Amino acid sequence: MRLSDINLVERDQYVPRVPFEIFDTLRREAPVFWHEEDEPGGNGFWAVTNYEGVVEVNRDIERFSSARRSALITEMPEEDLAQQRMMMLNMDPPMHTRYRLLVNKGFTPRMVGKLEEQMRERCARIIDEVADKGACDFVTEVAAELPLQVIADVMGVPQEDRHKVFDWSNRMIGSEDPEYQVAVDAPQQAAMELFTYAHELAAEKRVNPHDDVFSVLNQVEIDGDKLTELELDMFFMLLAVAGNETTRNLIAHGMLALIEHPDQMKKLRDDRSLMPGAVDEMLRWGTPVMHFRRTATRDTDVCGHPVKENDKVVIWYISANRDESVFSDPYTFDITRTPNEHVAFGGGGPHFCLGSNLARLEIRVMFDAVLDRLDDIELTDEPKRLRSNFINGIKHLPIKFDVKR
Ligand code: HEM
Repeated sequence: MRLSDINLVERDQYVPRVPFEIFDTLRREAPVFWHEEDEPGGNGFWAVTNYEGVVEVNRDIERFSSARRSALITEMPEEDLAQQRMMMLNMDPPMHTRYRLLVNKGFTPRMVGKLEEQMRERCARIIDEVADKGACDFVTEVAAELPLQVIADVMGVPQEDRHKVFDWSNRMIGSEDPEYQVAVDAPQQAAMELFTYAHELAAEKRVNPHDDVFSVLNQVEIDGDKLTELELDMFFMLLAVAGNETTRNLIAHGMLALIEHPDQMKKLRDDRSLMPGAVDEMLRWGTPVMHFRRTATRDTDVCGHPVKENDKVVIWYISANRDESVFSDPYTFDITRTPNEHVAFGGGGPHFCLGSNLARLEIRVMFDAVLDRLDDIELTDEPKRLRSNFINGIKHLPIKFDVKR
């Protein structure tokens, strides 16, 4: 493959599978590569594909901004950017530091641990729903359900409103995949409705607090500083998007990886103490968020390659997680891999995934439930993948299984 033929933006090529051969070529020949861009408003970007470069950019929030042009690869007009900057993903210090300090209080190991029992019950029920059929679409009927239910628990959304929130968050993401395409203004419309809903829910929780994260965040105060109503509403919106699709896809990738590597599935069935390591290998293997974007705040360099102020810099987690200089046999799925310093939740910078503990717990609990109840799991048809260069997504994963009695 010639460097001049490389195109990481072309969405169709992600439908059959992740085009790993492109990333392999880039890491080998040009790990910090100037990528031309034929998108509206786009002037090209630096594609950073090696582990070292991804971590360097991810950790240096002074040189590589998330706020200037957002953390998203797509260019957008200034009024949309202003809205995006109200979400922590698209903030820089000092705003980000303050915000993160406050919301961290909702995601301490203690807060997350409190959800485990309920999560186990939810998983058991989700598996019960499909068990008697002996077959299901693992994505829509299993993997999608848990993250939706958990986010609703975290945010204290009443049972009767849950489907509305799911629907809004799905529409808000919009999609480049024809199966999910919605009207052009649907994402904005859904965002408005979700925002109004969050606002009313927060008001309710101020009067009537429960022990969910949203109620806790309503009251958190550090040195007299509190989240404003607007900040809380925006946080609700971010979680509705950040915690759903990512975890759903990871669970789907984990299932597919275990089916395709029966020796690893057996190993995990035989020794459940391997589960935490297996979850990390699923994260490395599946890498649901393939990239994020930064903008250079000054003339600088990445791994010694000069980069100009305001250049777009895109860090490809999906490629860093296959970097052979860090992971031995990166294309081998090995649930006992140690060390496994993958970057599926980010490269250790200040924006490191806030929900990583929660997501890890969800994945662990889900695979415990799957292995407890289902045996002889097999694919009945090819998985159907999402058309996207951002989310490494599986839309449908048809499986059959025997139920353990
Ligand atoms: C397997 C599941 C998940 C994956 C792969 C994932 C991945 C990521 C990544 C790559 C980032 C950006 C990190 C960076 O730029 O350094 C991120 C940020 C974030 N994630 Fe996750 N995530 C997952 C689940 C969740 C869940 C369950 C929640 C919420 C409950 C969540 C909430 C967030 C938030 C709020 C941020 C922004 C943090 C900040 O800007 O400081 N994520 N996630």
